[in-house]
Amino acid sequence: MQLAEYIDSKRQEHLNELLEFLSIPSVSTKSEHKADIQRAAEWVANALQRAGMQRVEIVPTSGHPVVFAEWTGAPGKPTILLYGHYDVQPAEPLEQWTSPPFQGTIRNGNLYGRGTADDKGQVHIHLKALEALMKHEGRLPVNVKVMIEGEEEVGSTNLWNFVEQFRDRLQADALVVSDTSMLAKGVPSVTYGLRGLNYYQIEITGPAQDLHSGVFGGPAPNPLRILCELFAKLHDKNNRVAIPGFYRDVAPLSPKERKALNALPWNKKEFLKTVGAKGPGYVPEQGYSIIEQLWCRPTLELNGIWGGYTGEGAKTVIPSKAWAKFSTRLVPNQDPEKIARLVEKHIRKLLPKTVTCKFQVLSMGKPWVAPFDHPFFQAAQRALERGFGKKAVFIREGGSIPFVTQMYDTFRVPCILIGFGLPDENAHAPDEHLNLENYFGGIKSIAFFYQELGQLKANGSKRK
Ligand code: BES
Ligand code: MN
Ligand code: MN
Repeated sequence: MQLAEYIDSKRQEHLNELLEFLSIPSVSTKSEHKADIQRAAEWVANALQRAGMQRVEIVPTSGHPVVFAEWTGAPGKPTILLYGHYDVQPAEPLEQWTSPPFQGTIRNGNLYGRGTADDKGQVHIHLKALEALMKHEGRLPVNVKVMIEGEEEVGSTNLWNFVEQFRDRLQADALVVSDTSMLAKGVPSVTYGLRGLNYYQIEITGPAQDLHSGVFGGPAPNPLRILCELFAKLHDKNNRVAIPGFYRDVAPLSPKERKALNALPWNKKEFLKTVGAKGPGYVPEQGYSIIEQLWCRPTLELNGIWGGYTGEGAKTVIPSKAWAKFSTRLVPNQDPEKIARLVEKHIRKLLPKTVTCKFQVLSMGKPWVAPFDHPFFQAAQRALERGFGKKAVFIREGGSIPFVTQMYDTFRVPCILIGFGLPDENAHAPDEHLNLENYFGGIKSIAFFYQELGQLKANGSKRK
């Protein structure tokens, strides 16, 4: 039996196993799920063990544990570090799910459930590809190290320590990640750029306590109103971020890259349909196509705002405090620390003296863009073509994966991001799903990818 045939014969088994993984509500942001996080880490460790990986370890951090394993029985062959995350976003609002979020359900060729696309389903693709190679061939074609973390969805804040501590064990010739998307259905894609992310929270305090809005309204400063005024001032009428210096370090796109990105088989209608609003929103940023805005331009977005009375009926109150969560997506060569300073400085400058402001940076992450001319990328292209019958394209994306930048900056190795999600699969939202064709095609493609890499030397040159 050929490898591809072998993998296909295991479809039902693979699916059942993924359903088990999905049933663990490993929500990293909520402390009530601490035990589930531990269970998910153990589940991954067991799956690695079953796949025949060695030195499987669950390494505690000051946050959630990292699962690590390796198989180094292919001397002279490339060494790959596989990265992914077993943590997921909260499932709320629960009532908006068609089927329960932690009970994987198949509908119309898609598998629905929290973590299907981001990132348990994609991690599982790799676990099963490794296992198939090991069982079918008796060995792996390359050396593989596996690192699956549990804090990606909260900014990978404890990962830096881990990388420092495990520096030697993380050493590899390439990083491989499946935590991104394909450009569109039927278009296998390799991602060579991500935006960075800084996440902030502010607390504005006006009156020392809540006040009767009739007795005090007018002269008393209302922190909610001040917060709204503040956010209204953070963009200009051309949809640009109105923070002095915000764009100063943004690297311009080369004409060549710009042409390549805008020539991709990307469909504006599909995009607008997925957005689902009545129009694209705002004026387009002058001189930038939607794809350029999504992948190559920085943004500032308000992610949540609260305060005052939000319960049933009316309550006439001037709240003492108001809060907001917001974030900036960053592109090369913006520096997260510098941007955080600019943002704080400008906000403090805009706020009236009648309120105080607590400013917090919850996480910071650098943008990442890297060349894709290393032979490993062509190996990925060949593998994807074998798995999906179509030539893969090279894309950038607007999302962020802090570890990719960290790894690239630390080791300067090729980072090969092969995503099997789709942009309309509701990652982070209700009814998250993963297309089953992409899941099954993904397992084969990744197995082929490792085989292709096995044809190369550690530095990427052809073996004689
Ligand atoms: N898998 C995503 C990142 C992603 C999504 C990359 C789509 C490319 C396309 C990841 O799990 C994620 O959601 N990252 C967060 C950042 C993190 C610091 C919370 C993000 O992008 O908001
Ligand atoms: Mn992810
Ligand atoms: Mn995510």
